[in-house]
Amino acid sequence: MDFHIFQTPEEASHSLARGIASLIKRCEVAGKRPVIGLATGRTPLALYRELVRMHREEGLSFRNVITFNLDEYHGLGRNHPKSYWRFMHENLFDHLDILPENIHVPRGDIEPEDTVRECQEYEAAIADAGGIDLQILGIGRTGHIGFNEPGSGAHTRTRLVELDPVTRADAVADFGHLSAVPEMALTVGCGTILEARSIALMAWGSGKATVVGKAFLGPVSGDVPASFLQDHPSVSLYLDEPAAELLAAGCEEKHHHSKD
Ligand code: PGA
Repeated sequence: MDFHIFQTPEEASHSLARGIASLIKRCEVAGKRPVIGLATGRTPLALYRELVRMHREEGLSFRNVITFNLDEYHGLGRNHPKSYWRFMHENLFDHLDILPENIHVPRGDIEPEDTVRECQEYEAAIADAGGIDLQILGIGRTGHIGFNEPGSGAHTRTRLVELDPVTRADAVADFGHLSAVPEMALTVGCGTILEARSIALMAWGSGKATVVGKAFLGPVSGDVPASFLQDHPSVSLYLDEPAAELLAAGCEEKHHHSKD
């Protein structure tokens, strides 16, 4: 794993945005369409702002880019103010030249009998696009990636899941009341994420330090689904200093022990 530690989330996000721009340009030269997996939440906002700036000021084009979002709240239609479909359009897609047909977000407003088909079709669409070149991730305080909460297996695929109480509590700021926070969500699986050719995970702030330490220094375990990334051949972590604090301390300790 590559660790990139920056003073601020903005610096980290700008570095990742440059990486995305170079992926888009490499694909253009190779005559391929880049397939990018996207995340929601507070973490990627600075990244999305920078991509929009690069599009407006530097002419970075998303005309050939195909995107797949990780997840969507169950029961929310696309136009619901808190849907991830809406979040992605407001914060990114509406400001780019991406083609609507190249945008994919799991549908949250599906009938129970259509859930399995929706999830299978989502997996099939990723495969049809040639798989994901770069998967962008945040990490939840439970250690989730996408909405793969503790207890998720490494081989899980796109499915309907129950949200962890910690995740629901963290979403109260968005929804106003705990009772308004959906109890379930559709998410791609850990197996789906791990099939991406490369992965970039971002985390900011001291509130994420413990889970970042557990995920990347602790054992690989479904108790902390982000720890599955330790077994992936191409993962880059983009952290600010507060989020990296335990990781840095743990690395020093390991180094120290290995010298003893
Ligand atoms: P956040 O959520 O970006 O709002 O902290 C991260 C996540 O749950 O993956």
